[in-house]
Amino acid sequence: APRRKKIYEGKAKILYEGPEPGTLVQYFKDDATAGNGAKKEVFEGKGVLNNRLSEFFMTGLNQIGVPTHFIRRLNMREQLVRQVEIIPLEVIVRNFAAGSMATRLGLTEGQQLPRPIVEFCYKDDRLGDPLVPEEYIIAFGWAAQQDLDDIVALALRVNDFLSGVMHGVGIKLVDFKIEVGRIWDGDFPRLVVADEISPDSCRLWDIETGRKLDKDVFRKDLGSLTEAYTEVARRLGVLPSNV
Ligand code: C5P
Repeated sequence: APRRKKIYEGKAKILYEGPEPGTLVQYFKDDATAGNGAKKEVFEGKGVLNNRLSEFFMTGLNQIGVPTHFIRRLNMREQLVRQVEIIPLEVIVRNFAAGSMATRLGLTEGQQLPRPIVEFCYKDDRLGDPLVPEEYIIAFGWAAQQDLDDIVALALRVNDFLSGVMHGVGIKLVDFKIEVGRIWDGDFPRLVVADEISPDSCRLWDIETGRKLDKDVFRKDLGSLTEAYTEVARRLGVLPSNV
């Protein structure tokens, strides 16, 4: 393997210096964590599936004019992406109540929300990514008001696209998380979808059976994570030949 400079290592991915300035190589590991790293396991092939799935979603977004950091897939586990300034927020969009929202508000899992709801968590592993109001984001300067408005619009466009694609293969998009980055084109900042879009960062339920096809399978010990992700990839027609 070529000697490359590691820029950052996270729980599920590694970022390396890219071949050209302004690019990075994003490597997908097989590691899964939950509860902010409290629970850990390695699932053979997960990185390969998420690399393919994230490519599929990011390419689709790029095609409909929703900008992302994705340039192209390089191999089974790596993709070339634009280097961005990551906005330190996890941007969550919810269509149905689940997870932390269901717990916080005492809602029934799966209850349809009155409309898609966008929420923000401050990205900080030490703190467990706490939910924060827009007021905090502006006051602490994590993003400007205009950025936040643009991020909400971006997140809702991603939601429309992903919901539609998933619905087409019999899957309900319950909620998902994206990260947003800033790219400078000359003097002009642009916001783009960054990181990954995969079953690690979405809740995906089979419309017919309610079967969970996302990381909750690991979080709640509901069976084989690899099988669930493979099912999503198979339905979308992006199953890699060797998994
Ligand atoms: O746990 P919670 O209900 O807040 O998660 C909402 C959505 O955001 C889920 O799809 C979950 O997988 C995703 N998420 C994530 N990374 C986090 C927190 C949540 O991808 N650190």
